[in-house]
Amino acid sequence: MVTVEFRLNGTSIRVDARAGEPLLEVLRNRCGVTSIKDGCQPQGQCGACLVLIDGQPKVSCAMPAEAAAGREITTLDGIPEAEQKLLARCFVAAAGVQCGFCIPGIALRAHWLIAKNPSPTRSEITRAIDAHLCRCTGYIKIVDGIELFARARRGEAIEDAQQSGGVGARVARFRGDDLVLGRKTFIDDITRPGMLHAAVVLSPHPRARVLRIDTSKADAIAIATAADVPGKRHYGLIRDDWPGFVAVGEETRYVGDVIAAVAAVDEHSAREAAKRIEVEYEVLEPALTIEQGTVLSRTSIVRGDVAEALANSAHVVRGMWTTQRIEHLFLEPESCVAEPDGDKLKIFSSGQGIFDDRRQIAAFLGITLDDVIVEQLSSGGAFGGKEDLSIQAHAALLARMTNRPVKLTLTREESVRMHPKRHPMTLEYEVGCDARGLLTAVKARITGDTGAYASVGEKVLERAAGHACGAYHVENADIESRAITTNNPPSGAMRGFGANQTNFAIEGCIDLLAQKCGIDPWEFRWRNALDIGRVFSTGQVLEKSVGLKKTLLAVLPHYEQAKREGRVVGIACGVKNSGLGNGAREVGRARLVVECDGTISLYNGFSEVGQGLLTILTQIAVEVTGLDFARFRAKVDTTYALDCGQTTGSRATLLSGRAVIDAATKLRRDLDAGIDIAGREYEGETVIDDTTPIGGAKTHTALGFATQLCVLDEQGRIAKMVAAHDVGRAINPAFCEGQIEGSIHMGLGYALTEELPCPGGMPATFKLLELGALRASDMPPVDVILVEDREPEGPFGAKGLGEIGLVPTAAAVAGALEQFDGIRRTTLPMKSSIAAQSMRAGHIR
Ligand code: FES
Ligand code: FES
Repeated sequence: MVTVEFRLNGTSIRVDARAGEPLLEVLRNRCGVTSIKDGCQPQGQCGACLVLIDGQPKVSCAMPAEAAAGREITTLDGIPEAEQKLLARCFVAAAGVQCGFCIPGIALRAHWLIAKNPSPTRSEITRAIDAHLCRCTGYIKIVDGIELFARARRGEAIEDAQQSGGVGARVARFRGDDLVLGRKTFIDDITRPGMLHAAVVLSPHPRARVLRIDTSKADAIAIATAADVPGKRHYGLIRDDWPGFVAVGEETRYVGDVIAAVAAVDEHSAREAAKRIEVEYEVLEPALTIEQGTVLSRTSIVRGDVAEALANSAHVVRGMWTTQRIEHLFLEPESCVAEPDGDKLKIFSSGQGIFDDRRQIAAFLGITLDDVIVEQLSSGGAFGGKEDLSIQAHAALLARMTNRPVKLTLTREESVRMHPKRHPMTLEYEVGCDARGLLTAVKARITGDTGAYASVGEKVLERAAGHACGAYHVENADIESRAITTNNPPSGAMRGFGANQTNFAIEGCIDLLAQKCGIDPWEFRWRNALDIGRVFSTGQVLEKSVGLKKTLLAVLPHYEQAKREGRVVGIACGVKNSGLGNGAREVGRARLVVECDGTISLYNGFSEVGQGLLTILTQIAVEVTGLDFARFRAKVDTTYALDCGQTTGSRATLLSGRAVIDAATKLRRDLDAGIDIAGREYEGETVIDDTTPIGGAKTHTALGFATQLCVLDEQGRIAKMVAAHDVGRAINPAFCEGQIEGSIHMGLGYALTEELPCPGGMPATFKLLELGALRASDMPPVDVILVEDREPEGPFGAKGLGEIGLVPTAAAVAGALEQFDGIRRTTLPMKSSIAAQSMRAGHIR
């Protein structure tokens, strides 16, 4: 240990630190500064841990605490109160905060920037925040927020976000100020008296038999292995095939398998103890390719006579498209706190389905559901990657074993190793059209590497098949998809859920057919676009809210202008289900509870993962009740039986929105009747049970539609994206824009720079820059056009928007690239293109 002295926010501090201990750990763990976050320690590549050292911005995770000796450290909490308030006001007004995990670091950077450059240009702001990764926003509204802050600091009047409002209002994010300033608690920020810290031992081998686990050299308060699990050791969202621990005598199936978990007095001790656990393996040959794997599931769609239709087509295109595995890169690595609460166990989880978490944890521990309370705190992004249980069961077990609170937080490396990824797929397509360019048939064979465990892989491949014809009417379809189990990291839910991969392939076919026909790509899409009365991939004849043609019309002026100016412009359409559909019974549940202080707690069964659900639901409650926004307190926990399953399938607004309308209508009715609502509770519930399996009449309740353009500059770099989206009804237009901008950020990464190769079953890199998520200076401007084709089954006409934003992006980019250099690219990411090469992210150094 060394003793380090420095000044922290104006106060002299003397603290003991381990030699080489990162300053970030010292500040968070011993000085209690939780506005700085750990997104990637020790990489120094996300910026979430930014501090000012002697007035200069530095990432504190990559700096040993000793190096801070004698220096002045300033965190966001240490800048003047008025400055903090102004920063929060401006970021919230610009809707420049979503999950909020990255924002305190960026806000501190903004404070520093504007102090030295009071009137920065937009590109100066962009360059200044290039050291920061934001996975949610696409940076555009962050830059807006910093511009606003600069204006306010110059004394100009600025417009605030609306503090209250119903449907259609640009209302400020629920607890947005606290998120900006790092005052809203994330799980890793929690401390408790006597709390233990945990670490896990992961298998280094994708496939190996565990011969022996020797824990004798590990110095820990508790060590858990398979032998300590009192209940059901395997869990899963669809199939219970995922072991919380791999037992002696069993085989590991991927490099994220947990062999043991330890609890110790602090995180460092826990990690040191974990390193001293000796595991003997018999290394076995893993299955790492589709050919070596085994079939988990098949989905088949057959409509009409494809062979005949193709034989009679004027033009046919064939080809193989391949897409890559990518990492979600939510900025907050998985974290869980489990603590005894009387004779129950309280879990703080950032999962996408806390009721599923509770069910699996209770079974794992062999206790009843009532014995487990789960609360969702802030979630630093998820994008599908926090659906499966990760470390919640391990933290829960250690808390039971020790009868003490236990915190388990993964490092970035462990996070990348453990949670499911986006499926890499191969997509063999054959598509025909007649001489007028009307599609005649689609034949598709789709194969996805679903990795080690089932997760929701079979549903992703089902979804891929169900979106295989894209946003187009096709009478004849012969589609088969297969999910293949291997020893690669599991693939599961990720924003788009299989629709992205098939979109890349079908849109490529559309471009090729348009060329063969000599028809403009926009016109070709217009002729084939889904509309009322036309048939979706699954066989459903669409009856309502098909806004695709409106999105095509909305981009047309931009498309024509780009062409007039001689610019290269790619175009793609997209479709994505809102709600699971395909015969699933889906429920939305909400509860309004009038508390004794007059506030109204708004509970619902879905998670807030940065998308803004809690704000949206509150706006709906405001719209129905007429009460002020500030009166509501949105909460996500298991106090009430509001189980709705995972926050997935772009369905939370659809289902919880309907449930909130139900509850709020009852409350309004009481108000109108003059009934005192103090202490009353209002239940809301909605059920969707009329969808049919694929091939039936109504496979989906609602579908979202989009058309996107990719415009290149003279050098072949991406100059601009245009995104027209049918959102049904924009309950909060600023949030809709933010979802689309953030999705396009992710979609451009998917198109150009992001990949997670796993040679030998192990991720090739864990570094954020190498994983390829775009930085602010990589991000082009995005023109968002919101189209509102009201969905009769959606709350106030709304339909889900969480995923579709990136469904057409890669295809629009591919179309533009082909026009630029004549190369039709069929493999993602399109790294050889000038557009990709000009990006800062995505190059393995
Ligand atoms: S945690 Fe320091 S840069 Fe990411
Ligand atoms: S708001 Fe930036 S990572 Fe979520």
